[in-house]
Amino acid sequence: MKKIVKLLSVLAVSLLVSISVFAKQVVYVGTNAEFAPFEYLEKNQIVGFDIDLLNAISKETGIEFKVKDMAFDGLLPALQTKKVDLVIAGMTATPERQKTVLFSKPYFTAKQVIITKGEDKSLKSFDNLAGKKVGVMLGFTGDSVVSEIKGAKVERFNAAYAAIMALNQGKIDAVVLDSEPAKKYIANSKQLMIANVPAEEEDYAIAVRKNDKALIEKIDAAVAKIKANGEYDKILKKYF
Ligand code: ARG
Repeated sequence: MKKIVKLLSVLAVSLLVSISVFAKQVVYVGTNAEFAPFEYLEKNQIVGFDIDLLNAISKETGIEFKVKDMAFDGLLPALQTKKVDLVIAGMTATPERQKTVLFSKPYFTAKQVIITKGEDKSLKSFDNLAGKKVGVMLGFTGDSVVSEIKGAKVERFNAAYAAIMALNQGKIDAVVLDSEPAKKYIANSKQLMIANVPAEEEDYAIAVRKNDKALIEKIDAAVAKIKANGEYDKILKKYF
């Protein structure tokens, strides 16, 4: 009897050891799937450039990512309260956000653009949005850009499609949004266009909590590999 107990406990211990050796590191990811082509829903599945990038990082690192869809302005709070461990959402690594989270090296460069219905010849720079009703998405960098323009009337929306709808209905004069999603919206419309004004570049990066340095280093190394081995370009080609 004693022998059997001993044997069983030896078996149990070795089982536990092998499970912990083979268990994958699981990392919960937050995104906001209303930002094509970076993340959007297709048949109820979250897909897009960022998701393919995550899958490529998963292949490199062995990390298993579990992606949750949530409101954009809830992403960083969810990271801080440990509801998720990582955020990938076409998120710009702004100095303001850098105060509270740790960003990866940039993986994409974008800029803000102004979308109008028909051409607005008065628009030569972002400052010309003064006196106009401008739609932005709550918490997006476009929100801070337009909020800083003296005299611009900021109208905050929860999702880009709602702002675009308001623009189409003539309820607002312009929408400020990231360049790539903006291109997607105007591609589907005869009247919408992007104003030709200069804009600063911004870098998208992956965010983790400040003390997760080891995780972000793993991710940076994986992304460097993915860029070097052509995988990154393949993903780019698929979406752009
Ligand atoms: N780049 C902008 C920002 O960081 C917008 C990102 C929106 N992303 C999204 N998945 N909804 O604020």
